Amino acid sequence: MSMNPDRLAPSYLEQSEAVRARFERIRQREVILEVRNLGKRFSSAQGEVEALRDISFQIRRREFVCVIGPSGCGKSTLIRTLAGLESHSSGEVLLDNRPVDGPGSDRGMVFQGYSLFPWLTVKKNVMFGPEMNGRGGDEAEQDALTWLDLVGLSKFANAYPHQLSGGMRQRVAIARALVNQPRILLMDEPFGALDAQTRSKMQSHLLDIWKNIDITVLFITHDLDEAIFLADRILVLKAHPGEVQELIEVPVPRPRSPGQFSSAEFLATKARLEELIHPPMPTESEEDQVVKPRMIRFTDVDDNVE
Ligand SMILES: Nc1ncnc2c1ncn2[C@@H]1O[C@H](COP(=O)(O)OP(=O)(O)OP(=O)(O)O)[C@@H](O)[C@H]1O
Ligand SMILES: [Mg+2]
Repeated sequence: MSMNPDRLAPSYLEQSEAVRARFERIRQREVILEVRNLGKRFSSAQGEVEALRDISFQIRRREFVCVIGPSGCGKSTLIRTLAGLESHSSGEVLLDNRPVDGPGSDRGMVFQGYSLFPWLTVKKNVMFGPEMNGRGGDEAEQDALTWLDLVGLSKFANAYPHQLSGGMRQRVAIARALVNQPRILLMDEPFGALDAQTRSKMQSHLLDIWKNIDITVLFITHDLDEAIFLADRILVLKAHPGEVQELIEVPVPRPRSPGQFSSAEFLATKARLEELIHPPMPTESEEDQVVKPRMIRFTDVDDNVE
């Protein structure tokens, strides 16, 4: 008897008892970040762009949420708005029930580009935030050394950024964001510029850090595997305007390990994300409604020959 493989594949909606129980526990926790009907328009000489429309979601304490979506769908705009670096046009952003209306040390940011000060040592880079927040020199130094230890870079405290590899620089950037004890860590494709091997190490490293401290994470990525590997839930945005398409609970159990990349739950989740990000080609009847190339007048090819 032949078996239909489609019927055997689990759905990304199926959760084991342990995974279901974990989501149940997360739902009991307090809401750290609440985004309500958020909208963002940009006006420029070229006209208006509606970058985000009616975005609503909540993130609970110690949750790890990834955001994916096609290029230009507003992921960076969303995270910059949450960071208070960008104003919003409509809706509300609440952190610990208080409206966000500008940058603050309760949010830590890590971007793709290395944003360290090249003229400061690793330790001084990490001390910068606490010093700006009024911590004394000795306290700031102690804070910096504690966090550098947590990201495994104690030995490089006196090195300069250019002496570090890309992965190490991003670890300093993480220490620099965490040293201010933010409520939430906002990460915009932080590993996007790293080679595949370093990237995979950094993903495991980030999960180790996250496991050990009280931090909530919102992490933007283009990489579906990275999103599934890291996240409790994945917010899928669609483009033009950026709107929430689906908020997926990742059914892959924790602790995560690279061996899970080929597990049934992982593959089922990836298939769903691919379906959302790269929808199937139009069927023939839908195609009839699309302007066909033959309806466009082409100039004679010879016209273009000089
Ligand atoms: N400062 C700005 N002024 C005008 N338009 C902007 C500005 N910033 C972003 N946009 C527009 O808003 C939309 C969303 O951009 P955004 O950078 O948030 O997308 P993204 O999802 O992060 O893209 P990518 O995946 O390529 O990083 C785009 O159409 C972009 O051109
Ligand atoms: Mg972006």
